[in-house]
This record gives sequence, C-alpha cells and structure tokens, in this order.
Amino acid sequence: EPGSAGPLEGMRFDVIEPNTEDALKIPDGYRQQVVIRWGDPVVPGAPEFDFENQTPEAQAGQFGFNNDYAGLIPVIGEPNRFYLVVNQEYTTEELMFRGYQEKELTEQQARIAMAAHGITVLEVAANDADGSLKPIVGQRNRRLTASAPFRLTGPAAGSELVRTSADPGGRTVLGTIANCSGGITPWGTMLSGEENYNNYFMNASAVTEQPTADRLERYGFEDDGDYHQWGRFDKRFDLAQEPNEANRFGYIVEVDPHDPTSVPLKHSALGRLKHESANVYVVPDGPAAGTVVTYTGDDERFEYIYKFVSSRKISEGDSAEARRNNLRILSEGTLYVASFSSDAPPTVTGAAGSGRWHKLLTVDADGAATSHIKGMTPAEVAVFTRLAADKAGATKMDRPEDIEPNPATGKVYCALTNNDKRGTDGEPGADAANPRNENKNGQILEIDDDHSGEEFSWDLLLVCGDPAAADTYYGGFDKTRVSPISCPDNVAFDPHGNLWISTDGNALKSNDGLFAVALDGPRRGETKQFLTVPRGAETCGPIITDKRVVVCVQHPGEDDDATVEKPFSHWPDGGTAQPRPSVVAVWKDGDGAIGM
Ligand code: FEO
Ligand code: CA
Ligand code: CA
Ligand code: CA
Repeated sequence: EPGSAGPLEGMRFDVIEPNTEDALKIPDGYRQQVVIRWGDPVVPGAPEFDFENQTPEAQAGQFGFNNDYAGLIPVIGEPNRFYLVVNQEYTTEELMFRGYQEKELTEQQARIAMAAHGITVLEVAANDADGSLKPIVGQRNRRLTASAPFRLTGPAAGSELVRTSADPGGRTVLGTIANCSGGITPWGTMLSGEENYNNYFMNASAVTEQPTADRLERYGFEDDGDYHQWGRFDKRFDLAQEPNEANRFGYIVEVDPHDPTSVPLKHSALGRLKHESANVYVVPDGPAAGTVVTYTGDDERFEYIYKFVSSRKISEGDSAEARRNNLRILSEGTLYVASFSSDAPPTVTGAAGSGRWHKLLTVDADGAATSHIKGMTPAEVAVFTRLAADKAGATKMDRPEDIEPNPATGKVYCALTNNDKRGTDGEPGADAANPRNENKNGQILEIDDDHSGEEFSWDLLLVCGDPAAADTYYGGFDKTRVSPISCPDNVAFDPHGNLWISTDGNALKSNDGLFAVALDGPRRGETKQFLTVPRGAETCGPIITDKRVVVCVQHPGEDDDATVEKPFSHWPDGGTAQPRPSVVAVWKDGDGAIGM
C-alpha cells in the first residue's frame, strides 16, 4: 500500500472472513484453548460434568451456563495468577436437558437452571510460554448462583419497595440473575449488570394494584415473558405472591474476589434498569482528579444511557482502609441520564452533536439521599429509574449495550446494538444519534465527556451493516477494505488504544465475531474481524491484552428456527455432543503479542 504504514499496532493479523462454520475461527499463526466449559468443576469437590445425570448440587459447584462477561483480576502477591470472573447470564433449557418440552420444566430442571446462573470466580494460572490459562480448582473459587446472598446498598436498601416476606428488612437479596456484561474496577472488583430479569417472574397480570402494575409494565414484566418458570417452584418468583421481589433485581452487582467470604453488593445508587454493564473512569488530573465516573446503559429498545459520578475519590493500594473506601465508591454520588442533540438532521456520515447529563439522584456519605425528580422519593428514583429518566427528558436510544471509556484517551464508546422498531407505528423516528429507522445493524457512539461535569460532545464512529450499502459508515475509512460488522454488543480496548467489538445477532447472515477498530489518524474506522464463534453463538466478554484474547462463546447451537435440526452446533466437544457455552483463550504462536 503506497503511502501507508499499514495496519496500526495491535491490528496486524489476517482477517477472518464471514462464515457459518461450527468452529471458532482465528487468524493464521494463532492458537486457541477452551479454558472452561459449562459443567466443568469450579469449587473443590464438584463432580465432573455428566450431561445425562446432572443435578442441582453438582451444577452449584460447576461452571454455569451461557457465559457472557469475562474479566481477569490479578491475584495480589501471586505473579501469573488471576481471578477469571465470568457472568452466567441465562439458561437455554432445550440445550441443557434431553427431551425438554417448553413450558413443562420439572422442579429438578428448574433447580439446576437456578444453580447454572450468576457469577463464577475461577482462579487461573497464566502460562509463561504461551497464552493459555489453566483453571485451578481451589479455595479462591466461588459460584454465586440465583440463591447466593447479596447486600443491597443505596437508597433502595431497607425501603418498603424491596421488603418481602423472606426479607422484611429489605437489605439481603438472594441471588443474581440475567447478568449480562460487566467491568473491572481499578480497585480490583468485578461489576456486573443485571439485565433481562423480567423473564424470571410469573403472574404479572395478577397484579392490578396501582402504581405497582404500571411499574411492572414499564420494566417489561408480562405473563408471556416468564420463560424460566421458576415461580412454579419458588414463590418469590411469583409476582402474585411477592410483587416486591422483582424490585430486588436490575442492579449493578459488585464482587470482591480477593475475599472469598465477602458478601457481594447490589448498588441501587446506580439505578435499577436492564443494565448491560458498568465501566469506570478515574479522572486523571485537574481539580476532579481521583473522581470515579461509572457509565452504564439500559439494553432495551428506546432506553437510556446513564452515568454515576462518585463523591468519594479512589484510594490507591491494597490496604484494608483503601479497600473499605473503594467499596463505598458506587454507593455515594450523583446519578445522571443523557440527552443527545444536534443542529444537523439525521445522517449516517459524520453524525455529531452535543449532549447533556440530567441529574436524577444524589446520595451523600451519610446515606442521606436527594431526588432531583419532582414527585419521586430517592428510593423511587433508585428502584424505578426508568420512570425518573422519562421525566428528565432523556434521549431514547437504539438499545444501549456495553459502554466503556478508553483508558488511552478517556473517550467513551457505547454499542447501540440495533432497534428494528425505530420509526415504526407510534414509535420515535430517527434522530441524530440514532439515524436510521428500522435499524437492524446498530451503531457505535463515541462520547467526549467532561467526565465529572454535565456536558459532552459526541459523534458516530461506525454505522454498522453491509459496507456496500449507502446507509453505513466506517469512520470515514475506505468501505471496500473493512470487515462487515453488525449488531455490536460488547466493547473493549487493547493496550495500543484500539477499540475491540464483539457482536450478537449478526444481521448479515454470518456467525458473530470479534473485531478490532482503529480510532485515530488516517486509518480511523478501519475494521478487521479477528475471530468468529460457532453456529448459533454470540461473541462476548472480550478481554484483549498483549498476550491473549479471551472471549466467551455464549449459547452455541441456539436457534429459534423450528425447521433447523437441533442441536445444530456440537462445539466444543465435537461428534454428536451437546454444545457447551465456554470461555476461550487465543494467543499468537511463538509467544508474540496480539496483532503485532
Ligand atoms: Fe444480554 Fe444486552 O445483551
Ligand atoms: Ca450483551
Ligand atoms: Ca466491555
Ligand atoms: Ca446483546
């Protein structure tokens, strides 16, 4: 390429072309390893996986189903040891149980499914000679399932809205479910977003009392949505019996892996929504230096983007005092919701504008809280955050998924995955930041934020879809030289500052994948596919370091099409085996750095 220095550092690999293979495809010169699969033992004493004879007790000690987010947190004082922290978002019963009949779940199956949810903390040893990660089944490991105790923090804690017959104090919630993406904090904890928890509750229509019924509806609770049917076996998932149990899910969860006995937290000061993830940025300099800003999105069509500015600054180091301080960062501060504007009409090329953060809720160090929304108490804003944001004049977005600041530049990137309802009957039409009606392919929003302040500017880095189509944009880069990307879901950054994006639901009729995207200079918008996942799977949880790429392969073999023979994936075990959601590590042969 005359006059060009070639791909940026971190992006020098052979692209993987779109395909529909039942395999995890990686560039030439790279190696891969399945680190852990659904059913592999995690805690000491857990049995080996036995698909034909699975039990709730076995599952509670084994790796759960449908891994989504993954993070690596260094074990303090032990070089080359990490906590691999992984979400287990949901269960796909037809792939877990032979002969499963929809709506005829047995109690045994329900209890296995409950134990297959939540979060796994797994110690891994990083190999010096290559990029592989070896699971260590030991005392550091944890499985936090749908029945593990969590402590609720912030204005919801103890309020009437979250009291139940089993927890009249409203402070101890059993379980975390529907954990989608997440983030790692600089103080060494894992954050995780509780997302589609409405699919776990029965009898929404039996609740007619107001305002409870309207609140349930605003959060998508409906009888048909009760895919998991747990309420048949555990009354807390029956809204007719325990309407407040629903208010105890939908939070950002924080897990401290360094203390295996610690009770994980649910932070209501960050609001209750269908959180996709939470990622923090620490203001590096100026008067606000040390301020922690947390970004989070609400993944549903026409929902909002939020941030939380902590009033408590970060403490450096691993001392007990620093840890105590840092574990309070996400329960003291101000929650905001975003609106986006532009002087220009909707366009896919060079869309840009300004924006404003609107205050919803402030929590002081002593726990006293102020609502910034007329007619709502602080506890109501914390629990029914969507209703507060409706009143604040926020902008309805195309399904805000993962949102994360680039550590190299401080710019914040949000995957707006798709929104096929935009511009249809009675729904909002295209606007500057969501420029296409019936948006099937999604876009990547780039925000230049005054992190601790209330204003920002923004533009669209990518308007995804077929590069040959007129309604797509790849940051201004030559569209004949990019990998097609569709339905961005998770974002991450490599050590060179490039953006990496994993996809879910590729509308271009090929398998989902992982892409690297150049952000700066003449190659801005260059998009290269690094890997694809097996049939039916989405790619998630990406971690990109010098030495390895780690991805979660979620729901391989899942397909709604009744005419497709099941299972239509046998990955990773091959032959006629059931597919198993798994975490995979990829590294460059010969100990090279990724993309170099
Ligand atoms: Fe669970 Fe928003 O993807
Ligand atoms: Ca997701
Ligand atoms: Ca991410
Ligand atoms: Ca998704």
